[in-house]
Amino acid sequence: MQTKIDTILVLDFGGQYCHLISRRIRERNVYSEIVPHNSSLEEIKALKEKFNVKGLILSGGPASVYGQSAPKLDYRILEDDMPILGLCYGHQILAQAVKGKVEPAACKEYGITYATIDKPVGILEGLSEKEKVWMSHGDTVCSLPDTFEILAHTDNCPVAAFRHKDKLIYGLQWHPEVIHTENGAHMFNNFIFNVCKCEANWQMEDIVEKMVQELKNEVDNDKAIIGLSGGIDSSVATALAAIALNEKLTAVYVDHGFMREGETEAIQETFSKFKINFIVVQAKERFIKKLESVTEPECKRKMIGEEFIRVFEEEALKTGAQYLIQGTIYPDVIESGSSKNSANIKSHHNVGGLPEKIKFKKILEPLRDLYKDEVRKIAKMLDLPNELVNRQPFPGPGLAVRIIGLLTEEKIRAVKRSDKIVREEIKEAGLAENLWQYFTVVTDTKATGVKGDARAYGYVVAIRAVESREAMTASFAKIPYDVLEKISTRITNEVPEVTHVVYDITHKPPATIEWE
Ligand code: XMP
Repeated sequence: MQTKIDTILVLDFGGQYCHLISRRIRERNVYSEIVPHNSSLEEIKALKEKFNVKGLILSGGPASVYGQSAPKLDYRILEDDMPILGLCYGHQILAQAVKGKVEPAACKEYGITYATIDKPVGILEGLSEKEKVWMSHGDTVCSLPDTFEILAHTDNCPVAAFRHKDKLIYGLQWHPEVIHTENGAHMFNNFIFNVCKCEANWQMEDIVEKMVQELKNEVDNDKAIIGLSGGIDSSVATALAAIALNEKLTAVYVDHGFMREGETEAIQETFSKFKINFIVVQAKERFIKKLESVTEPECKRKMIGEEFIRVFEEEALKTGAQYLIQGTIYPDVIESGSSKNSANIKSHHNVGGLPEKIKFKKILEPLRDLYKDEVRKIAKMLDLPNELVNRQPFPGPGLAVRIIGLLTEEKIRAVKRSDKIVREEIKEAGLAENLWQYFTVVTDTKATGVKGDARAYGYVVAIRAVESREAMTASFAKIPYDVLEKISTRITNEVPEVTHVVYDITHKPPATIEWE
């Protein structure tokens, strides 16, 4: 008989970082599943048949516990003996459940804050007196009944961390899952291994097998096509689908005209080595025509998403495919607002950008629950070539979302050339390995310059270079000034459309990585 694996369930209250909690657990080799916030005690007990449920985490969420449609918790869960950790909204709903006082914060806290650890015990064991934590909340817990003790506070939040005196119930107002919380990993280790007593007995390989089997079962004797952009996600999805479907699979690469310089050739070169049906569709003209007069970013994304599907449908007719496979990953889903209770940040071309009517039996997304670095791990397991495993992520809509305003020939030229310069200089300086992404954005602003003693009036181009682990959060990279200087000099010298180069020094959040 197969032994049950230790599991932590995450109750989804709609927070942007709900899945990040789950993956923080999985990256410690402990399995985690996300379940709806209103799962009943009976439903959770039923899951114990399948998993060795060792603890629950209540995620954050955008609501106020006093809001009319505030997501609720089955309070009977607190009577069970399972360890529970509430984060942000989860912290507040726990406080509300035990008749503590939750009020709108006098001063809302967004971003990095320093918490004073009053009692470094339990989940906070081993932490210093002052901890750098990341918060984003409007309500705050002001007091709790005597059965609880306060473990930490901040200037604006009297109960920033608490625990029950006898039961294993904890609350944190901050987000340990976000990398800006300096010792978030330590807090997770404390909860997972010391409080919940989990064993690290789960591995990524288990997921690969499951995904291949699911694709096999779903497609059965039919055929499928897969949208292949050459980025890591769609490439891994292609490799998985190839294992599951062999010759029943056709990979379609759409050149929409917003690809980086040399991209189409590089992808052709890489995939000619794969044993799959591989089609390149030249679709520049139809995409550029469609986007001719579009300036609004969400509209751009949706039009690109729709046009992609139309191209895939045409190719499916030719091959007789009934299924479309996509390399959608979790951040695409969450940012497109597709999780219950979560807000739409931007419509990723393959999720929120999809048209309502689609001529496919079904869209299959084997990587939908994963983050980029988990996808890279799978890529390594599948022995994909290094140049693929280490590729920078590239958005489906391509350079179209790196040109603000109208997509003119002039701006397309400027973004392609400046992007190439940034790639070359970052590589030359040996910085590529530590950066998540590095590229340029052509803004819709023109500014005066002087080139060769004459007045010049050109575009302002922004350099964006970020460090990240999974793209849900990112920090702007502290690129050495001499590298920035070289990039800026080359761009203004080699790209005639540009007069000014600026460096984007915003983290995500509050910014996003791409500008549109
Ligand atoms: P943002 O800009 O939301 O980007 O911080 C997070 C990551 O996702 C990539 N991205 C996309 N990938 N289709 C994709 O396949 C899209 O529509 C899309 N938009 C953004 C982005 O490059 C970054 O790595």
